[in-house]
Amino acid sequence: GREWTAIGSLNPELADRTVLLRGNAQTIRPVSKKMAFLVVRQSMSTVQCVLTVGKDYGSPQMVKFATSLSRESIVDIEGSVSIPKDPIKGATQQVEIQVRKLYCVNRAVSNLPINIEDAARSEREFEKAEATGEQLVRVGQDTRLNYRVLDLRTPANQATFRIQCYVEDIFRCFLRSENFVGIHTPKLVAGSSEGGAAVFKLDYKGQPACLAQSPQLYKQMAICGGFDRVFEVGSVFRAEDSYTHRHLCEFVGLDAEMEIKEHYEEVMDIVDRLFVAMFDYLNENCKKELEAIDRQYPFESLKYLRKTLRLTFKEGVEMLKAAGLEVDPLGDLNTEAERKLGRLVFDKYGTEFYILHRYPLAVRPFYTMPCPDDPAYSNSFDVFIRGEEIISGAQRVHLPELLTSRAEACGIDVKTISSYIDSFRYGAPPHGGFGVGLERVVMLFCALNNIRKTSLFPRDPQRLVP
Ligand code: 4AD
Repeated sequence: GREWTAIGSLNPELADRTVLLRGNAQTIRPVSKKMAFLVVRQSMSTVQCVLTVGKDYGSPQMVKFATSLSRESIVDIEGSVSIPKDPIKGATQQVEIQVRKLYCVNRAVSNLPINIEDAARSEREFEKAEATGEQLVRVGQDTRLNYRVLDLRTPANQATFRIQCYVEDIFRCFLRSENFVGIHTPKLVAGSSEGGAAVFKLDYKGQPACLAQSPQLYKQMAICGGFDRVFEVGSVFRAEDSYTHRHLCEFVGLDAEMEIKEHYEEVMDIVDRLFVAMFDYLNENCKKELEAIDRQYPFESLKYLRKTLRLTFKEGVEMLKAAGLEVDPLGDLNTEAERKLGRLVFDKYGTEFYILHRYPLAVRPFYTMPCPDDPAYSNSFDVFIRGEEIISGAQRVHLPELLTSRAEACGIDVKTISSYIDSFRYGAPPHGGFGVGLERVVMLFCALNNIRKTSLFPRDPQRLVP
């Protein structure tokens, strides 16, 4: 085959070389019958292509053909790399292509429902334009999601999903380096695992079943099965009723479960080191992506400590009380209290990433281990970025009698989970783990305001298509 050049790799060192490129025709600007400019985009990179009539260049037909192209059509271009006299504004690459051959591989319709340049503008650009009386089109969220394949072409979206891929990669690599084994648990299951959260019911060959709300019970059973440390990256299903900025009906769960040797803080140690390594990696290696997101949705980079702050739930309640917010010391924190605590923690400790542990037992799922020194509390934790939850975790009950009574106390019909409870009768070690919402990590690391921005094709209570 011929040699293709990635648009992102075009640079002045390639001057005078002939290259072959493919991309979307982002903008087409006719200058005269003998000249036109074409900006071609491939992922996050764009290059300006110059079409002129001349001995070494193209024909008048080529220039005419170029100006007849519809935006976003896929084009192949053969031409030579040149260095322009003036810096280029409308493209990422600081070279031009003097086009010799132009092919249209596949035409886009001429009435695109979304203009990529409009979809890529920041709120500030709109405000500036409005101030000067210029009319720009804002692209609403529903339109974006309805035509997601177009919306995804913006630099910020291209960057978001690259960052998501890194987060997933670092999760795997870090845990593998800590001797965790990757597993896959069933998504077609007989019952719910996270009491409260609704399930998607389905018919399993005549038996009632549902889509897994989390790998919770099965990842614990993997520990019972002799794997001392496991992790899973997989889809998680929640039949959420509420339409919020941070809940999806399907999301990607990053789960881990491990033997505990002495103390449940061992689980928090893993969370601590994993996330500090992840944030460091993203900041060092995803500069281009973070800048692309910042250009459209400006944000401050995350403040986090070398050693992650751990506060007890009691301490958190005290801080809220001191700030004038009364919360139930044995209840859960609502979204408002979590946000407020996030701000208080930042003011006091200078971090936007922290762990809150020893939650009241009553607000945690039945499988959570009560604190041995005070059973009103539990060996559990939540982890927050910018005042919003990204992780929940805990030590689990590994004693079958206690597990049975905890399930009964939580109103669960123990017959429905008997194979799970029985797993702990054959010799099961103390263990604990945590579950991370992938979309939430990316959303909050980049301070985006809506989880739909970090899900490729989001599923929410109102959206099943596309
Ligand atoms: O807090 P959750 O429900 O905890 C569990 O599923 C436990 N089995 C985890 C464990 O190992 N103890 O979910 C874990 C994480 C949350 O912290 C949140 O980041 C994310 O999953 N999450 C959601 N993300 C998007 N949409 C939803 N509806 C979510 N529900 C939870």
